[in-house]
Amino acid sequence: MRYRAFGRLGWQVSEIGFGTWGMGGWSGADDVLAAEALDRAAALGCNFFDTALAYGAGHSEQLVGAMLRRHPDTRLYVASKVPPKNLKWPGRASTPAADAFPANHIRASTETSLRNLGVDRIDLQQLHVWSDAWVDDDGWRELDRLKTAGVIGAVGISVNRWEPANVLAALETGLVDAVQVVYNVFDQAPEDALFPACRARGVAIIARVPFDEGSLAGTLGPGTTWPEGDFRNIYFTPENLRATLARVDALSRDLPAGMSMPEAALRFVLENEDVGTVIPGMRRPAHVEANLAVPGGRRLTTAELQTLRKHRWDRGYEVE
Ligand SMILES: NC(=O)c1ccc[n+]([C@@H]2O[C@H](COP(=O)([O-])OP(=O)(O)OC[C@H]3O[C@@H](n4cnc5c(N)ncnc54)[C@H](OP(=O)(O)O)[C@@H]3O)[C@@H](O)[C@H]2O)c1
Repeated sequence: MRYRAFGRLGWQVSEIGFGTWGMGGWSGADDVLAAEALDRAAALGCNFFDTALAYGAGHSEQLVGAMLRRHPDTRLYVASKVPPKNLKWPGRASTPAADAFPANHIRASTETSLRNLGVDRIDLQQLHVWSDAWVDDDGWRELDRLKTAGVIGAVGISVNRWEPANVLAALETGLVDAVQVVYNVFDQAPEDALFPACRARGVAIIARVPFDEGSLAGTLGPGTTWPEGDFRNIYFTPENLRATLARVDALSRDLPAGMSMPEAALRFVLENEDVGTVIPGMRRPAHVEANLAVPGGRRLTTAELQTLRKHRWDRGYEVE
């Protein structure tokens, strides 16, 4: 494993972190396999785990907490998230800030997460949605007060899907230590304004959804469906799936020789030095082993990187 400085916080975090949404609530989640995957990741040097109270109503946090207790002698960083009080994704400017993140909700949600995780401090607590329209409200500053009190180690914002600039005003306050953003071969827009702003302030970057919820893992086909209630039915509506698979097909013809699509997808993200860690969602040890091997694998050449960059896809439709 290789490690990078996590913004101005100075933490040394593994290049490959661990996304735990799927194990909390996607169809097909299996607690035994998930625990094995988490343990394998910790054993292979992964030290950054992203979870949220909203993932399976605390179930993902409980799985991560149990994993922490099985590895008491290893420094493992945990990032969780406060859901918006109104449970509305994404954050919208038309929503009053007090409906999303009033101070008492942030405090109560953090206390629930502490209990789920079985810890007395969360390394990084993030807001699970955001709108820069809320920046002047006092409510979300509760995170800073929790940091001063030592209940959390750092303040983060997870920005809305495909709105990477909708956090720049929050960064201006100086209160935000880390941002979490969709960044992958398709979704390159964070490079435009967000990454330079983070670089200027020492704000750590967590790159999420490196496989575009599965399409960039190369495992989806025209007939892929999910059981009712699975988020991916909303993300990959028949129309979106068709459009996505056409892009995936074009990409598959442009992959570096001998490199699988998931490896190229992760390698693309890691070639950007602004990224602190990338957090693929993983629920099985085989995926952990494949993904955690990527930092030790070969780098992309400049020409290969340029070829992948041509697959940028700026999407505008809403999926949440
Ligand atoms: N609003 C937010 O803050 C927000 C939103 C979305 C995601 N996130 C965070 O970001 C993390 C990552 O995003 P995600 O999990 O939604 O999507 P993702 O990482 O783009 O894709 C996850 C999918 O890729 C599969 N996969 C992983 N490694 C693979 C490999 N080597 N080969 C083939 N398939 C592989 C996983 O399968 P298995 O599950 O079967 O292993 C899963 O189906 C989440 O878990 C969560 O922590 C945050």
